[in-house]
This record gives sequence, C-alpha cells and structure tokens, in this order.
Amino acid sequence: MQPALWPEHESKRSEQYKPLPSVWDGEDAELIERMLTFYPRERPRRILDATVNGGRFWRGTKRNIVGLDIARLHRPSVVGDNTQMPFADRCFEVVVYDPPHVPNQGEDKQKDFHTRFGLGQRSQKENGYSFSHLYPPFVREAYRVLKPEGILLCKITDYIHDHQYQWAHVDLIQAATGAGFRACDCIIKIRKGPIIDPKWKVAHHSRRQHCYWLVFRKSDKCE
Ligand SMILES: C[S@@+](CC[C@H](N)C(=O)[O-])C[C@H]1O[C@@H](n2cnc3c(N)ncnc32)[C@H](O)[C@@H]1O
Repeated sequence: MQPALWPEHESKRSEQYKPLPSVWDGEDAELIERMLTFYPRERPRRILDATVNGGRFWRGTKRNIVGLDIARLHRPSVVGDNTQMPFADRCFEVVVYDPPHVPNQGEDKQKDFHTRFGLGQRSQKENGYSFSHLYPPFVREAYRVLKPEGILLCKITDYIHDHQYQWAHVDLIQAATGAGFRACDCIIKIRKGPIIDPKWKVAHHSRRQHCYWLVFRKSDKCE
C-alpha cells in the first residue's frame, strides 16, 4: 500500500506547518483565514458562508466567497434559507456557519441584536427558547453541498436563558455527527465582553466570556 503522503510531500508539509492555538483572543476574520489554511487538505476554491449577514468574517479577504442569508437587507450574494439551500450537491469545499445565538433580545436595547445577530424571529417556548432545532436541517444541507473531505466551520455560543443553560455547542455536535460529519476540533474564542441580561442582579452561573469554533469534516477521519 502507498503511504498517504510521499516523503518529499511530508517534509514540505512540515516545513510549512504552523500550529493553531486552541484558545483564540483575536478577530474572527484572522482566525478563519488561519483555519482555511490549516484544515482543508487542498486550498479551498469554493467557500460558502451560510449566515453571511454583513460579511464581517471576510473583511480584507481576497477569497471569493458565496454569501447566503435569509434576510435580503444584508444584500448577500444569494438570498435563501440554509435549511433548504439553493445549491447543487457537492459543490463547496468549505461551509461557514454563525447562527443567531441570542434567542430573545431582553431589555438591552443599546445593542442592535436584531440586525447584527439576525433575530428576525424569536425562539418560542416549545423550542426551549433556543435555536438548536435549526441545527439538524442545516447540517443535513451542509453535508449535501460539501464535497467529500469538505470542512464545516461553526461559530457557536452557549447561552443562559430563563436560568437555563443552553448547550448550543453540544446540540450542534450531536446534530452534525448525526448527519454524518466527523467532529474534528474545537477552538475557544474569547469574547470582548460577556453577554449580560440587564435584569440579572445576581446570577448563579459563570459569565459567558467565550464562544466556540467547531470544526467538522465530511470524512471518516480528521487527519
Ligand atoms: C449571527 S449573524 C451572522 C453574522 C456574520 N457571521 C458576521 O460576522 O457578519 C446570523 C445571520 O444568519 C441569518 N440567518 C438566520 N437564519 C437563517 C437561515 N435559515 N438561512 C440563512 N440565513 C439565516 C440571519 O439573517 C443573520 O444575518
């Protein structure tokens, strides 16, 4: 059997190798660029941002990105629903996902969660005030549109609502592995400040000062 990489390729790869830290205290755009050179086995040419909003992830990039968003006001390259994507099977090498993560705005009107975080609709009581029910239909579509060995990069934030911890990152891992993805990596991203509901005077849980970047591969193996 041939080795996965010939020796000269292996040594070229180790010369170019730059480790990626598991805790990131910088901008998303910079981290995404690092991840795009770190995880894909070949340079990705077709990249989909499935929740592109204002495109903050791609500031300064020279890459050609297809930006999908359900809200026309953000002027994405494609207006559409990421749970029913208007794309052919196996046409992207990378899909990026940053779903709405604050189920209800609460009292803090200073921050425009509605526009920036896509809170077009509130999460209802029957969904446990979370957005986890959106993950299974999304990951099925992400799996369909990714090429074999394709990468799914998800920014995901756990959240406390009504004194309940919402395990968004666990729900997403379960949904993605259930759809056939392999869960390959997890990076903790430090937030500038915690999300605080101004109604909370005393809260008996830690303040969320981080979120996660989860890395999945449409493959049997990660490495
Ligand atoms: C947290 S924002 C993304 C922010 C973006 N990553 C950025 O940094 O600019 C989430 C976005 O997902 C969009 N969205 C929500 N549900 C969607 C769906 N089913 N299909 C496509 N986009 C959706 C919202 O309109 C919103 O713009």
